[in-house]
Amino acid sequence: MPKDTSYASLTPDAAGRYPYTAEDDAVWGALYTRQMAFLPGKVAPEYLDGVAQLGLTADKTPQVADIDARLASLTGAGAAGVPAIIPPSQFYDLLSQRKFPVATFLRRREHMDYIEEPDLFHEVFGHCPMLTNPAYADFIEGFGKRAKALGKGYSWHMFRLFWFTVEFGMIRTQEGLRAYGAGIVSSPAEAAHATSGDALMQAFDLLTVFRTPYRIDIVQPTYFVIESFDQLADALQADFAALIDQAKALGDLPPLFERAAAS
Ligand SMILES: [Fe+2]
Repeated sequence: MPKDTSYASLTPDAAGRYPYTAEDDAVWGALYTRQMAFLPGKVAPEYLDGVAQLGLTADKTPQVADIDARLASLTGAGAAGVPAIIPPSQFYDLLSQRKFPVATFLRRREHMDYIEEPDLFHEVFGHCPMLTNPAYADFIEGFGKRAKALGKGYSWHMFRLFWFTVEFGMIRTQEGLRAYGAGIVSSPAEAAHATSGDALMQAFDLLTVFRTPYRIDIVQPTYFVIESFDQLADALQADFAALIDQAKALGDLPPLFERAAAS
C-alpha cells in the first residue's frame, strides 16, 4: 500500500497545544471506544492500567503536553510532539531521554481501520500507556541509549528489536498470552490476529529477533513473547554489537511473509 501523503504535520500554539477540531474529537472517540471494547482479555493488564493512569477518555483528543506531564510524574518518562517522519538519530535521541516521539496528526474517518503512517491514535493510545510502567520505561530509555551509541551500522537491526517489542510485543501472563506492542493494541485487525492462536509465537531471544525480517504493511506472521517487563529491561545488558555482528554473519532467517499474506 502506498504511503498516504495527504496528512500534514500540525503546528502547536505557544502553549504547546495542537489545534484538534470537533471532527478530530469524534474520530478519536470512535477509535478509543472501539478498541477499549475489543481489548480486554487480549492486552497486558499493565497496558490497561496505563490507559487509566494517563486519563485517556473517549471525550477528547489528548494533548501531547498533558501526556508528557502525566508520564513525567509517574515514571519520569515523557512524550514529545514530532512531525510524522523523523530521522533515526532524532528518534533514538528522544528515546534515550526517556521521551517517546509522538506524531501529532490524527487520521481521518477513511483510515479508521488501517493507516500506514503512525498517527496520534497509534502513538498515544498505542505507545504511551506502557510508559507508565517503570521497567518498560527503563527499556525505552536504555534502548535509545544503546541504539545511539551503536550508530548507523547497527540501526537497522536495532529497529528490528524495537519492532518485535515496542511495536508488536507479546507477554505471557497467568491468564494467557497478551499484547503490549503498540501496533497490536492500536489495531483491531492486528489484535484479533495476535490473539487468534494462528500466529507463530516465539520465545523472546535477541539473536533470533535480530535475524528476523519483517514487513510493515501486513498483519505479523510471528510475534516474540516476553515473560515479564523486567526481562525486557534486563535484555539491555547484552552485548548488542556482538549479537548483531553474529546476526549479520549468520544472515536473516527465512521470511514468513507468504504465510501471513495467505492467512
Ligand atoms: Fe509505533
